[in-house]
Amino acid sequence: MTLLDGKKTSEAIQNEIAAEVAAIRANGGKVPHLAAVLVGNDGGSITYVTNKVATCERIGFGSSLIRYEDTVTEEELLNKIKELNEDDEVDGFIVQLPLPRHIDTEKVIEAIDPKKDVDGFHPTNVGRMVAGLPAYLPATPAGILQLLMRYEIETKGKHCVVIGRSNIVGTPMSILMSKSTYPGNCTVTLCHRHTADLAYHTRQADIIIVAVGQPGLITADMVKEGAVVIDVGTTRVPDASRKSGFRLRGDVDFEGVAEKCSYITPVPGGVGPLTIAMLMTNTLRAAKKEVY
Ligand code: GUN
Repeated sequence: MTLLDGKKTSEAIQNEIAAEVAAIRANGGKVPHLAAVLVGNDGGSITYVTNKVATCERIGFGSSLIRYEDTVTEEELLNKIKELNEDDEVDGFIVQLPLPRHIDTEKVIEAIDPKKDVDGFHPTNVGRMVAGLPAYLPATPAGILQLLMRYEIETKGKHCVVIGRSNIVGTPMSILMSKSTYPGNCTVTLCHRHTADLAYHTRQADIIIVAVGQPGLITADMVKEGAVVIDVGTTRVPDASRKSGFRLRGDVDFEGVAEKCSYITPVPGGVGPLTIAMLMTNTLRAAKKEVY
C-alpha cells in the first residue's frame, strides 16, 4: 500500500507557484492577489481562511481578508462583491461557505464575476467544466486530480465510485473522472444518501472517492483488494487528549482499509492540504489570464 501524501504534494505545488511568482516579480509583472470574504465566527471557517491568507503571504501573493459579523445583510455582502469584481488589484476572490441562513448563497455565488471566481463555484465555471472548456476547477476535485497525476495512477477504463453528491466535491468529481482526459476516462458511479446498497457499488470500485462527512463509513469489507481509496471526509470528533479538544476523522476506516488497498489518503494530511494549493493555482491562472 502506498500512502498518498497530500502535505508533500501540496508543498511541491506551492513551491512551483512561489518560483513562478518570484519570476513575475523579478520581471516587474503584477503579483497575483487573492481576497477572501469571511462572515461570522465559525471555528472551521476561520481556520481555513486564515490558512489561505497565510499561504498567500508565504508564496508571495498579495492577499486581503474582509470580515463581517454574521448579522451582515445580503445587500452589504453583494455590494462588497461588486467592489471586488471591479477592483483591478484583485485577481480572484472567494466567499467562505457556509453563509448564515438569512443570506442566499446561490445569489452571492452568482454575483461573483466568473473571471474572478477562483473557487470555481459560479454556474458559468461549472458549465464550462462540464462542457470541457477552460474553467476554474473547484479546489478539492482539482487537488484529487493532482494526487492521481503526481502518483501516476492509471485511471483509463477503471470503475470510479464517488460517494456524496455535493456541488463542491462529489458532483464535479464524478464529471471530471468521466472526462476523456487524464486523469479520467473512468466509468463513474455516483452514490448518495438514497443509494440502496452502498457496499454493492464500492466493492466493484477500482477507485473510491468518498466525501460525505460520516466518520468510518467505508470499512474494509466494502473495498476490493488493490483499490485506490481517496478520503475527503474531515469531521471534527471530540478528543479530550488534544489541546484543541478535537481531532479530524475521515469517512474511511483507515486501519482496516489500508491493508486492502493499493493507494490511500490519510486524514489529516491527504486531500485537505491540496485544496489550498489548488486555490493558489487558480489565483495564479487568474492573474495570468489563462482561463478567460
Ligand atoms: N467551505 C468549505 N470548502 C470551501 C471552499 O473550498 N471554498 C469556500 N469558499 N468555502 C468552503
